[in-house]
Order: sequence, then structure tokens, then C-alpha cells
Amino acid sequence: MSSSVKSSSTPLKFTHLTPGILYRSLAIAGLVLFFFYALLIRTPFNQGVISFHLKRQSSPNITVDSAPTNISHIGFIVVSSVRMWKHRRPYTESWWRSNVTRGYVFLDKEPPKEFLPWPSKVPPYRVNEEITKLRVYPKLVNPVEVRIMRSILDMYRAGDKGLRWFIMCDDDTLFFVDNLVEVLGKYDHTKFFYIGGNSESIKSNADFSFEMGFGGAGYALSYPLVEALVKSIDGCIERYPHLFLSDHRAQHCLADIGVALTIERGIHQIDLHDDISGLLSAHPQSPLLTLHHFDTVNPIFPTMDKYQSTRHLMKAADLDQSRLLQQTICYHRESNWSFSVSWGYSVHVYESIISRTILRKPLETFTPWSRTRGAFFMFNTRRVTKNPCEVPHVYFFESIEHISGDKILTTYVRASPRNLPSCSTAGNHSADPISRIQVLSPASTRKTAGEIECCDVVQKGQSNTSSINLRSCMNGEVIA
Ligand SMILES: *[C@@H]1O[C@H](CO)[C@@H](O)[C@H](O)[C@H]1NC(C)=O
Ligand SMILES: *[C@@H]1O[C@H](CO)[C@@H](O)[C@H](O)[C@H]1NC(C)=O
Ligand SMILES: *[C@@H]1O[C@H](CO)[C@@H](O)[C@H](O)[C@H]1NC(C)=O
Ligand SMILES: *[C@@H]1O[C@H](CO)[C@@H](O)[C@H](O)[C@H]1NC(C)=O
Ligand SMILES: *[C@@H]1O[C@H](CO)[C@@H](O)[C@H](O)[C@H]1NC(C)=O
Ligand SMILES: *[C@@H]1O[C@H](CO)[C@@H](O)[C@H](O)[C@H]1NC(C)=O
Repeated sequence: MSSSVKSSSTPLKFTHLTPGILYRSLAIAGLVLFFFYALLIRTPFNQGVISFHLKRQSSPNITVDSAPTNISHIGFIVVSSVRMWKHRRPYTESWWRSNVTRGYVFLDKEPPKEFLPWPSKVPPYRVNEEITKLRVYPKLVNPVEVRIMRSILDMYRAGDKGLRWFIMCDDDTLFFVDNLVEVLGKYDHTKFFYIGGNSESIKSNADFSFEMGFGGAGYALSYPLVEALVKSIDGCIERYPHLFLSDHRAQHCLADIGVALTIERGIHQIDLHDDISGLLSAHPQSPLLTLHHFDTVNPIFPTMDKYQSTRHLMKAADLDQSRLLQQTICYHRESNWSFSVSWGYSVHVYESIISRTILRKPLETFTPWSRTRGAFFMFNTRRVTKNPCEVPHVYFFESIEHISGDKILTTYVRASPRNLPSCSTAGNHSADPISRIQVLSPASTRKTAGEIECCDVVQKGQSNTSSINLRSCMNGEVIA
């Protein structure tokens, strides 16, 4: 490419050209140069570009490391308190991998004797720095949340080496770390990135901001951004003593250094109440990264308590996170049934053919975080009706096993009888006898993030079990 740039800019040649051709050549040469530089700048991990970038960020402690992002590049900041940790520990324990995941639980004070010896199944703890010595302290409307936000500074001062990302989260946030590694790997950790999620509740976003990464949902900061933030954090606290929440403050401090939120759709604040199964059964087409508020919603599996539900979901997560909660839809034409699988969580069977567009809308099994006029949710929902053609038979995840042929078999069992007549407009094919659903998926190939899979239903005669095989979609396959 550089040779063509050279030859077209050789001045001698221009003497033989008419002005029209001359200008065209100049324009082409300009374009070629432009694309050449555009390419140079866009090429990720180009040494020249990165060293320039690092110089600008003045960050001598990062060495250029273009190896793929892995779990050891991520530092978790689990914010908690001595009072909350006692009953929230099981949530963190459910996803933490001892000696693999890195980071700390940040507490307001030294843990009492009953917490010691500190278990190795959870992150080691650190006590946040006292903030009473801050000049602005008397003016802070909510000092607890300032302590929480300064965990970023306390984590930075811990000085752990080789981190590319800091993750802020609550003690009742669940993480799906394999997916997190994959998703963060898409971003250039040597640049400024603030990655998080909105609330599900329009009112929460309106009250705080549509541009804020909600803290319970968890948000990620690239290491250079952390360095810039910690330098200015106490100044930011002084500027905004009236801010109430730590994530709202983080948004302000980051905005003041010129950084806007990047939204990832697998990050879930769960500002919802009661039964969130409708939402978890129609997850967006994006890897599941986090789930929050397990302490406030109903247990996600109806026969279990909150802690059991958490551990149960992690049984599926342990074998395959790429498919977890990913929605796969297929139809059984002989009986006019629609199947919607949320892998590792639920299967819905409808006694009619319902399009993907409709089935991808969560059933509104949950209630709003707070009542307002107008719309409540950041997504469309389907109202729960009594129409037998619209109400699914609901099956929840029961067991998972790795079987021969390099397959994973997940089994889902009926939660409760549907107690409705059959859908007459679709031919009265009752699914009442179906008591369990078996789903086969590939064991050693992760699902590609952002892409869907297709499925086939295998219904053997009068059997009370339906089987579904997940597979790659065929080129140009229409799912209808
Ligand atoms: C770099 O690391 C050293 C210790 O290894 C530390 O003393 C120094 O403050 C760090 N510099 C920056 C800019 O973070
Ligand atoms: C992660 O990548 C680094 C290189 O940046 C490498 O040194 C380390 O061994 C890797 N860790 C894991 C757990 O793969
Ligand atoms: C983690 O490593 C430490 C020290 O190497 C060891 O004592 C501990 O048993 C390990 N924990 C787990 C859960 O593997
Ligand atoms: C499926 O439903 C359609 C109406 O939606 C109906 O015309 C058709 O006969 C039904 N097919 C079967 C196999 O029942
Ligand atoms: C379905 O059943 C209802 C009530 O049992 C009946 O009225 C209707 O005709 C049936 N429809 C078909 C297509 O068989
Ligand atoms: C399902 O069918 C199997 C064998 O046909 C039978 O053993 C089992 O009890 C049935 N389960 C239910 C819940 O009807």
C-alpha cells in the first residue's frame, strides 16, 4: 500500500496530466493515505499506536501485553459490610473460584471473631480506608456510599499486578465469569472503558441516569481508566457531596474525565419484584454476565429457597456458561406446539404456533420496582393472560449431565399443572401429559456470543417426555 502512495505522489508524472486527471489523482492519493492511516490507527494492539496511547495515559506500570484476556486479568471489588456479609456470603461464594478469580470483599470494619478464620471459598477481605478524615466529610449526605465508591481507590492501592479490568459489584451480585472473560476480551483494555448496564425499571434510569452503569448489576473499568479515576476521585467527592449513591457518583466522576457508559445486555440490575421467571426465560441475545437482587426477588426456582436456587443455577453454569439462559425457539408442527428453551433454567411449551418476535418478549410474571404512570420496563413484555393458546406449560431446570457422544443433557420438570383447557384454535393438542423436557446440547463447543442456535423437537408418540436437540442454525434457516 505504501508503494502506491509513493508512485502517485511522484511530482514528475503530473506534468503529463490534464488538470482534471491531476485533481482526481490527488484525490485518490489523499484517499489512499487516509485509509492507510485509518487502518494504522484501527489495528488493535499495534505497538506504535499503543505506546503512544500509554504515554498519553502516563502509565508506566502497564506493559504492552496483547495476550488474550483471561480470568487472571480481572480484579473483583465486592462491596459489602460486616452487617450484610453474614447472610450475603453465599451469593458471592456461588460464583467465586478460589485461587482463580482475583479481588477482595471490602468491609466497613474488621470482621468480628465469628467470621474468622476467613474462609478460602470467598474473596479475601479488606477494610475500607476511613473517610472521616476527608475535608468534605461533614457535607456528605450519604457517607456509606462514599466509602463504597472509594473501594476502587482501596483496591488500586492494594497494588495487585497484571490486572486489565476492575469490576465493581455488590455482595448479592452473581457473576458468570467465563462469559465475562469472553465479553471483556472484545474491548481494548488499554483504552478508557466503562462497561455496565441500565436498570430494567424506566423510573430508576430516569431518576438516576440512562447513562449510568448500575452498581448492583456490576460495572467494569479498564485499568487505564481506573488510574485516571483514582487520581481525581477525592476531588470528585468534594464537587458532589450531595450525591446519594456510589454508582451515581461513579458516573459523575467518569463523565468529568470524558468517559461515557458502554452498555452490555447481559448485565442485570434486576430492579423488579416477585417472580422474575418471565424475564429469565427470555434473555436478550447476549451472554449472561450478571444477576443482581437475589435477596429481594422470589427464589428463581419455585421449589427451592434463595440460596438453593443460586447454587442450582450454578450447576448449569459450571458446565456451560455460553448457553446459560440463552433462548432457543422451535416448533412441533404435528401438534402445533411452540417450545422456548432458556438453557439451564426453564422450558416453556405453548399449545399454538407463536412467532419468535413474540416469544422473545418476557412474560410479565414480575411486578415493577416502583409504581409510576405509563410504562414500567425498559423492554416490551407479554401480559400474563388466561388464554389457553397463550399460557405456557412451564418446566424448570432439574438436572444436568455430561453424556456420551460429547453431549450435555439438561432435564426440566413441570412446575405445576396448567389447569386450563387445550388451545382449540390450534387443534386441541393438549400438552398436559408432558411432565418433563430433555434438552441435548453440544458439550465441547461454546455457543458463539450474539448468535442464536436452532433446535429440533423429538416427540415420541404418547411419551410424557419431549426431547429437544440444540444445533447450529443452517445457512439461511427461517425459524417459523
Ligand atoms: C508503579 O508501581 C510501583 C511499585 O511497583 C509504585 O510504587 C508506583 O507508584 C506505580 N506507579 C503508578 C503510576 O501507578
Ligand atoms: C493469563 O494471561 C497471562 C498473560 O497476560 C498469562 O501470564 C497467564 O498465565 C494467563 N492466566 C491464565 C489463568 O490463563
Ligand atoms: C488456594 O491456595 C492456597 C495456598 O496455595 C491453599 O492453601 C488453598 O487450599 C487453596 N484453596 C483452594 C480452594 O484450592
Ligand atoms: C394447527 O393450527 C391451525 C390453526 O392455527 C390449524 O388450521 C391446523 O389444522 C392445526 N394443525 C394441527 C395438526 O392440528
Ligand atoms: C376443541 O375442543 C373444544 C371443546 O372441547 C371444541 O368445542 C372444539 O370444536 C375443538 N376443536 C377442534 C379443532 O377439535
Ligand atoms: C412418564 O412415563 C414413564 C414411562 O412411560 C412412567 O414411568 C412415569 O411414571 C411417567 N411420569 C409421569 C409423571 O407421568
